[in-house]
Amino acid sequence: MFAFNFNKKDMHIFNGKAALMVYLKSIKTLNSKIGFVPTMGALHQGHLSLMQQSLIENENTVVSIFVNPTQFNNPEDLLKYPRTLDQDIEKIASLSADIILYAPSVEDIYEGKILSQTFNFDGLENQMEGKFRPGHFNGVGTIVKRLFEIVTPTNAYFGKKDFQQLQIVKMMVKKNHLDVNVIGCEIYREKNGLAMSSRNERLTELEKKDAALIYKTLTTAKEKFKTNSSKTITDWVKKIFTENNSFELEYFQIADESSLLPCIRKNKNKKYRAFIAVIVNNIRLIDTISLN
Ligand code: PAF
Repeated sequence: MFAFNFNKKDMHIFNGKAALMVYLKSIKTLNSKIGFVPTMGALHQGHLSLMQQSLIENENTVVSIFVNPTQFNNPEDLLKYPRTLDQDIEKIASLSADIILYAPSVEDIYEGKILSQTFNFDGLENQMEGKFRPGHFNGVGTIVKRLFEIVTPTNAYFGKKDFQQLQIVKMMVKKNHLDVNVIGCEIYREKNGLAMSSRNERLTELEKKDAALIYKTLTTAKEKFKTNSSKTITDWVKKIFTENNSFELEYFQIADESSLLPCIRKNKNKKYRAFIAVIVNNIRLIDTISLN
């Protein structure tokens, strides 16, 4: 299928890879850089900050909006994932009309075979999200690799909220010898500390307010990490969530930032992070904090 290419407030919007690739080739000069922000839409301030960084650091910025079916292990989650393309286009256009948007169909990406490639991420995929969302990271690896092949970015920007995803993408780039710098960007938070996420759109105002508990738990865990063992903190977090009826704790893990293996005994030469996933009214929220 050949793509449409129309201008909305002078923005270049593509829904087909062939036209996008021709266009990118036509604007690329010898030393010009392409910055790339892959998203699944329902854009929030966190996404816009990635785009802003890309606009500063590159001559051209491409944003993709694609709800990737192969990374959803739960069909209901895929079905309910917010899809707000018109508002997303408005948000991008108000940031910069220079941003090039790629919003493909499932057919344009998967060409009739909606399947994941199987990756070996040296064990990064077996921790946390990997345990609770079987196949998720093969889906992420598949789509990100495919998008990188289409967009050929110099720099690609990912939020640190999905820190495990960030490490997985870096590993995928390394193992496949792709010529892309993968850049991790700080987490954007609501005033009450709730990490910005497209999934927050599905929360009620009360749930959003109550979800402040997630970041509050992480910041207290960080404080406790100075003097307590990883096990003591994990037990404390489990107790907090057992006492709270609105949230179900899926996991809390203190892990080595690079291997993502659980911290059994602290090593002062290593960097650690706390990772958390909770479920509020069937909506899964994740967050993370650097501990040292
Ligand atoms: O983080 C996301 O929104 C998605 O996992 C990504 C990187 C766009 C791949 O579908």
